[in-house]
Amino acid sequence: HAPRTFRIAAIPADGVGPEVVAAGRTVLDALAARSGGAFAFDWTEFPWGCGYYEKTGLMMPEDGLDELADYDALYFGAVGWPSVPDHVSLWGLRLRICQNFDQWANVRPVRFHPGVVSPLRAADSTELDWVVVRENSEGEYAGLGGRNLAGRGPGNEVALQTALFTERGCERILRFAFDLARTRSEQKVSSVTKSNAQQYGMVLWDELFARVAPDYPDVATESVLVDAMSAKFVLHPEDLSVVVASNLNADILSDLGSALAGSLGLAASANLNPERRFPSMFEPVHGSAPDIAGRGVANPIGALGSAALMLDHFDLPAEAARLRAALDATTAAGVLTPDVGGSAGTDDVVGAVLDHLAG
Ligand code: NAI
Ligand code: MG
Repeated sequence: HAPRTFRIAAIPADGVGPEVVAAGRTVLDALAARSGGAFAFDWTEFPWGCGYYEKTGLMMPEDGLDELADYDALYFGAVGWPSVPDHVSLWGLRLRICQNFDQWANVRPVRFHPGVVSPLRAADSTELDWVVVRENSEGEYAGLGGRNLAGRGPGNEVALQTALFTERGCERILRFAFDLARTRSEQKVSSVTKSNAQQYGMVLWDELFARVAPDYPDVATESVLVDAMSAKFVLHPEDLSVVVASNLNADILSDLGSALAGSLGLAASANLNPERRFPSMFEPVHGSAPDIAGRGVANPIGALGSAALMLDHFDLPAEAARLRAALDATTAAGVLTPDVGGSAGTDDVVGAVLDHLAG
């Protein structure tokens, strides 16, 4: 029968983004080539980002979302460069895509990689295998607020940055977290807020967690404040499975989680529109890493793990497992970039992954 062809829009953007997206394309094409014609990827690359901004004053064209809307998925690198203010580059591209395509669930697995030394003392014997589920459409990143509010002169500027919590937005991400927990060996959801200090939105979140939990009697639950959770990440990593939190808190916690696993360069992420009305977007957690960009040493494992999440989304679980096994075999063999203590380049890691896929 005819091969399934997945049309993917690649948006490498800035810094190490193009380096790690190229790595992902190479590896995904190798998987397709050895699928015996079962599936294929049809790539279109969009040259958007800070370079595009320097030429046009926009991070992506006005009608860029229309151009992306019909792809099966988006494969994103990282956005940001010192030539453009970070809030302009992030809002102009990545957040614009996430918000307009209603990619309301951001899934961020955290795990130990064989052969990569974690700063956690007990790393050798401790299990670490979590998913951080980040509310990705509202919360602290709702973009509500303002500056230069009426009646305030120079020296008295006031800025408001308002977090938005809706019953619908909280409930859908909490149910998503419970559904995800049911697919895992450790069936537990840890809900993270700061409802002691933030008494409106985060209390609504806590109430919805308590309301939703009885629908999943088979799943264990706990409600933890974000400061305590950051300590728990370090002290009791074995006690977590699915961690669900608001936009800002989950952003911070997932960077902490990937650092505990060894490096930001390892961490994968999926921005999902679970209803599949819009394309979902797969990207490494890290940013554009200007300090190492262009040197061929960017760790591609986060981008390749994101490619595995894309294969899950395409309902190709065997291929996703094969790719993850090749990533584990590569790190276990000590083929590591400098951020995780090795001396391999991006291409060396990709080469080792391809060897394991072929083997
Ligand atoms: P960053 O994630 O780019 O870098 C933080 C540290 O991690 C740096 O030391 C960097 O060298 C290292 N690192 C990151 N990715 C790596 C990789 N693949 N291999 C090896 N080491 C890696 O975060 P930073 O420096 O705060 O931000 C740089 C730019 O990226 C800014 O413009 C920021 O706005 C943007 N950014 C974009 C994101 C996105 O597109 N999703 C997410 C976070 C930041
Ligand atoms: Mg982040």
